[in-house]
Order: sequence, then C-alpha cells, then structure tokens
Amino acid sequence: QEQEPTVGAGSVKQQLSRLVISSLRATVPEVEVEPMVEVSAKFADYQCNNAMGLWSKVKGSGTSFKNPNAIGQAIAKNLPSSDIIESTSVAGPGFVNITLSNHWVAKRIQDMLVNGISTWAPILPVKRAVIDFSSPNIAKEMHVGHLRSTIIGDTLARMFEFSNVDVLRRNHVGDWGTQFGMLIEYLFEKFPNWQEIGSQAIGDLQIFYKASKSRFDNDPEFKERAQQGVVRLQGGEEKYREAWKKICDISRSEFDLVYKRLNVVLEEKGESFYNPYIPQVLAELNSKGLIQESEGAQVIFIEGHQIPLIVVKRDGGFNYASTDLAALWYRLNVEKAEWIIYVTDVGQQQHFDMFFSAARMAGWLPDQKGKFPKTSHVGFGLVLGSDGKRFRTRSTEVVRLVELLDEAKTRSKSELLQRLTENGKIVDWTDEELEQTSEAVGYGAVKYADLKNNRLTNYTFSFEQMLSDKGNTAVYLQYAHARICSIIRKSNKDVEELKTSGAISLDHPDERVLGLYLIRFAEVVEEACTNLLPNVLCEYLYNLSEMFTKFYTNCQVVGSPEETSRLLLCQATAVVMRQCFQLLGITPVYKL
Ligand code: ARG
Repeated sequence: QEQEPTVGAGSVKQQLSRLVISSLRATVPEVEVEPMVEVSAKFADYQCNNAMGLWSKVKGSGTSFKNPNAIGQAIAKNLPSSDIIESTSVAGPGFVNITLSNHWVAKRIQDMLVNGISTWAPILPVKRAVIDFSSPNIAKEMHVGHLRSTIIGDTLARMFEFSNVDVLRRNHVGDWGTQFGMLIEYLFEKFPNWQEIGSQAIGDLQIFYKASKSRFDNDPEFKERAQQGVVRLQGGEEKYREAWKKICDISRSEFDLVYKRLNVVLEEKGESFYNPYIPQVLAELNSKGLIQESEGAQVIFIEGHQIPLIVVKRDGGFNYASTDLAALWYRLNVEKAEWIIYVTDVGQQQHFDMFFSAARMAGWLPDQKGKFPKTSHVGFGLVLGSDGKRFRTRSTEVVRLVELLDEAKTRSKSELLQRLTENGKIVDWTDEELEQTSEAVGYGAVKYADLKNNRLTNYTFSFEQMLSDKGNTAVYLQYAHARICSIIRKSNKDVEELKTSGAISLDHPDERVLGLYLIRFAEVVEEACTNLLPNVLCEYLYNLSEMFTKFYTNCQVVGSPEETSRLLLCQATAVVMRQCFQLLGITPVYKL
C-alpha cells in the first residue's frame, strides 16, 4: 500500500513532486525516474518535464505510447487528485503545465500565518551537517576573508537549521603549529610575569606576532629556543601548555568581539583538538596503501594533481592537510555528520579538492559525487577596495574587523539621525531605539552586501553603496519591511485576530502573483541549501519586495472591500521578509 503524501510537508515543488512520482509509477511502471518539477515562467505556475526523457527510455521497447506528447498526456491524467492543482495542460513534446488552485495557495498562506513559518521549512536529505567556517588563526590577523567566511557560514547554518538539520557550527581555528614555539618563547622573554598579565598588557597580538617573528628570523639563538619550544609544547610540558593557552585566550577574546557584533554563534574545535587523532588516521591511510615516501616526506599521490598531498612533513611534523584528514575522520565517525561543509576563500580550493580525493580513495566517501556522506568546499572571492585592489584601510595595512563594523554602525546612525531630523520624526525615537536600529541597519548592510553576490565573485567593499537606501541593499529592504509594518499599524486592525477570523483571496492578478511568490519561499531555501548559495535567498527577498510594491500600487488595501484579505497578504509578506532577514543574519527593524 502506497503511503499517502503528507499534505503540506515540504516546499510546493516537493509536494508536487510527490504527486508526479505517483503519476510516473502509474504511467511507466517499468522505469524508475526522478520527478522533474520546475517553476514555469510562461504558461503556468509549475511544469513537469519528465515526458521527453521517458520517451527516449521507452521508445522502441514495444511501448504503447506513440510520442512524448502522449506520455505527457498520461502523466497529467495519472496525477492523483489533489486540492493543490487547479488544472493541467500538455504542451509540445509532453511538458505538463500545472496551474495551482487559488484556494489552495490562499490556504497555504493563511496556514502559515496561523501555525508559523516553520511549517514552510523545506525537507532536506540530511539529518546532521558540520559547517566549518570563520576559522581564523591564533595570533595572526583575522582578515576580511575570515569576515566573509563568518557571514556566509552563519547564513548557511541558519538555513540548514531552519530546515530542521542538526548543524554543528565549527570554528576550526589555527591554534596549533610551529609558530607557537616562537610566540611562547617571546612571551617568556617579554613578560617574565606572563602568568599574571591580562590581555591588555600584550596589546595587539598581531604586532606581538610580527615582533616575535622578526626575533625568530634575526636571532639564531632565539630560533633554536623557539624550535625547542614547539617540541616542549607538543610534548605536553605544563608551562608551555599554559602559555599556549594564554595566547589562545587573548586571540579568542578578540575574535569574540567580532562574533558578538555579528550575532554569530560558533563552537571552537581548533586544529589542536584533532592533533591526537592524526597518527591513527594516517595509520589507517597507510594500511590502505595510500601513503608513500617522497623526498623525505609522507605523501598521498592524487590523480589529476601534479604535486602530491603532504601529510607528514620532512621534519616529521604534521600539517594543515593531516589535521584536516583527522578532522574529517572525526566528523564522519564520531560526530556522524552526513554533509561536511567548509567555507574558505577560493584560494584553498586545491587543498580541499586534494584531501576530499584522498578521503574518497580511503573509502570514507562514496565515489559517486552527490551521494551522502559528502563534503563540499564553499569557496568565495576576494573583498576589494574602491581602487580594485585587495581591501585595506588607510590607517593600517590590515583591516581591523571590529573597527570596520563600528564604522558601519556609526555611518548608519548619522544617516538615520539626519533623516529623522529633516522630517521632524526624531522626537518619536528613544536613544535605545536609535542605537538598536543603527546597529541592525549597519551590520545588516555589511552582511547583505557580501551575501547578495554570487560568493565566487570578488566584491567591492563600499560603505556608500551598502548604506544607500536605493537599489538592492539591506537598507532598502529594511525600509520596505518597515513600510509594510506601518501599513498594518495604520489600518488599526488586529491582524492577529484577522488571521483566524478572516480569509485570503487572490482574485486580482497582482494578488495572485504575490501569493505564488510567497509560497515559493521553501523551495528557495531548499535551493540555497542544496547549492550552498545564499545569494539565491537575497534575490528572492529583493524580488519579493518588488512584487509587494506592485501589488500595493495596484491594489488598495486600507478601506477597500478586500481589506481583510489584503492586510493578511501584507502580514504574510512581512513575515516572510523577516524570515529571510533572520536566515541572512540581519535583524529586521519595524520602524524607520
Ligand atoms: N585557518 C584557515 C585559514 O585561516 C581556515 C581553516 C578552514 N577550515 C579547515 N578545516 N581547513 O585559512
């Protein structure tokens, strides 16, 4: 007995796909194919495109179908009856056009208003995912690349979490390695009372790093001591462990300032965490015959790559790749993650390609791409300054992320103040509101400017552009959302009450277009997760606000006979916009 599809679960596409699956089974029981359901731009709302592919599979095998159009007709006819579909038609070589029922669309929106937007979560084929993001290096610069990783990784985590996936948010900080010998010895030298000092005493860790590096490069005696220091640290000597921890703590509290401003949650499992697992993991790879000796190092040769992946350096030490192999082993076997996602700049693509291949060679991952468990590298481009070069600020050669975020807030605050003063609204605002709004708008602008582009492209950092209230910016979208909230407020109607007492109808073409677009939300999140592309969600949010404008221009809301239905559409739009903001890590504002 076939199980009835659960009504209402998953995106519209997923719900239609279930109907199509059962139709396909009835139409061509002899072949097993994936349902192909797409949004249709022209002829209908959705489209099923299975007929042509099926035709090429069954023709010449004594099938009773005469052509792909006949298969399309049969697919349409065999769709189980459902209140989702209003009508179907078949075009050309078997495209099945599907028009959704207005009543069903309206009901789906109203159900969401009543039961919450979590009922619109897509269903994803994974239960647990690791997202490895941000991942700065201790005592080194946390740069704009790490900012991008933090913003992109956080959004992906939010989208997966919304889709009911258990997400392990991992900060894979660079807290291990040979630089610590030099840092620790320098700490002992500079601060004999290092155990007592607070983080302020050391001041800027990046400067500390540079000073210790120059000491290392210029003094052979210090260099010798630093190299010994690494051995003593890795051997577990108490004093060295403690000093290492001190340096990590100072770095961490600096990173946390950034995470706090961005409202990003991460769990730190740094490179040091995986270090104890490396020997056993390499032993396993060795027993599978993957590891070879090359010029004194232990390496894995990988097809299609000129140079091998080094897993033990010539001096016997482990490296970035051996740590990543151990971390992957841990994530697959201990944490039981099915999808492991790494967010770094595209410059690291080769590293990920190579160690993913090594994992496939070891049989940890299936050969077939796309099957679970799987790994993905989410690469992103550079952040450029207005001069087209790598982004830098005037004062220092590096960009201090905290200062950058503070500047976004200051600028958004002064713009807000200016506007409120000009239109005389400043009296309506408390200091706290001003503060919170400029933060939401300022930080949101930085995030959105990053997320709205395809992540692989370089993007130009410009406060003027991101804080503009025109065009595809977070500020524009915040305004659009606040305006909807104000329409609802000014109607003096209680939408909380209306959503159960009233009903939505979609008779006007612009109401229908808006309604259809609203219910696409789940499949947009699904697509953004499947392809790991947050810009897909940004595009949706922007289009949604444009569609709302069109609706609002052509359909009178307050005082019209359709007031109740239209207020509910306003409310649904606001709810969906807010959920998009939430997924993008942006705090929505209700008045602007
Ligand atoms: N710490 C590295 C860097 O700053 C990024 C680490 C990314 N994650 C990983 N598992 N390799 O470039």
